[in-house]
Amino acid sequence: IKNIGVFTSGGDAPGMNAAIRAVVRAAMYYGIEVTGIRRGYDGMGKGDFFTMNRKSVSNIIQRGGTILKTARCDEFRTPEGRKAAYEHLVKNKVDALVAIGGDGTFTGAKVFGSEYDIPVVGLPGTIDNDLVGTDFTIGYDTAINTVVDAVDKIRDTAESHDRLFIVEVMGRDSGLIALRTGIATGAEAILIPESKTGLEGLLNRLEFGRKDKTSRIVIVAEGEDAGGAFEVGRLVQEKFPNYDTRISILGHIQRGGAPSCMDRVLASRVGAAAVEALRDGHRNEMIGLINGEIAYTPFEHAIKHHQGIDPNMIKLVEMLSM
Ligand code: F6P
Repeated sequence: IKNIGVFTSGGDAPGMNAAIRAVVRAAMYYGIEVTGIRRGYDGMGKGDFFTMNRKSVSNIIQRGGTILKTARCDEFRTPEGRKAAYEHLVKNKVDALVAIGGDGTFTGAKVFGSEYDIPVVGLPGTIDNDLVGTDFTIGYDTAINTVVDAVDKIRDTAESHDRLFIVEVMGRDSGLIALRTGIATGAEAILIPESKTGLEGLLNRLEFGRKDKTSRIVIVAEGEDAGGAFEVGRLVQEKFPNYDTRISILGHIQRGGAPSCMDRVLASRVGAAAVEALRDGHRNEMIGLINGEIAYTPFEHAIKHHQGIDPNMIKLVEMLSM
């Protein structure tokens, strides 16, 4: 391997910059050149490349977002789009790739790696934590800490006004952000796509549960089935007009901010391991961390099998919010 192309793709996540830095610095350590590709597959198809060096990644480990920028790209879904991308890689003498992103990124990488003879490895970069082959994805820890910080603030005003707040968090079709932050904020209930009884449980608690609570927080994952925070809020208000209910959708605040220490360390470890993996002949695999050890998972496995939800964690929310 002489020249590694690195790019970020899909939704950004805090810690992506730390991952880029690790890839660049580890490559330099092994005497390998690095080409930065801007805006993911979109930039690859347009040849938006630049040479990276030690300095290009100075002072970025602490920054949110991605210095390489990111995009969701439709052209790369077509054979012509992938052909154009491959031609640009050949022209720029890029002979291996590190893709940083989530399931969409790895789906593209898997197809590309099967069509063209270029080794590709991936780094799990998404706040959703919805990939198999790593205990945590880069960005998840920062995002859940952002949510906890926001919900603690919401709790202050909820408590002052004796209100019930329905707070919607991201996660696409995964409830992992909602589950952990629900536990950490002492939520009354969580509604997640992986559990079908959330709404019923919430309505039951409001009807038969303790009445002397001064504030209540309900965490709703954006992908759950009841229809999102507004619909849940409408149902609660209809059934329990005596509860003073408010809705808060946290939105993209969850994607920004300085990465946590956990995310920086995770990104640094898997970033360096990606370069070593390419040197050792790995391809079409995501590099993650399981129980503190570097783990290699084929792309198709990483994207197809969502991380399961531990039912004990759901029970914990109910048990502790009595
Ligand atoms: O995958 C990360 C994520 O933030 C999801 O949680 C969310 O559903 C989606 O991206 C939002 O995407 P966009 O920023 O394109 O609206």
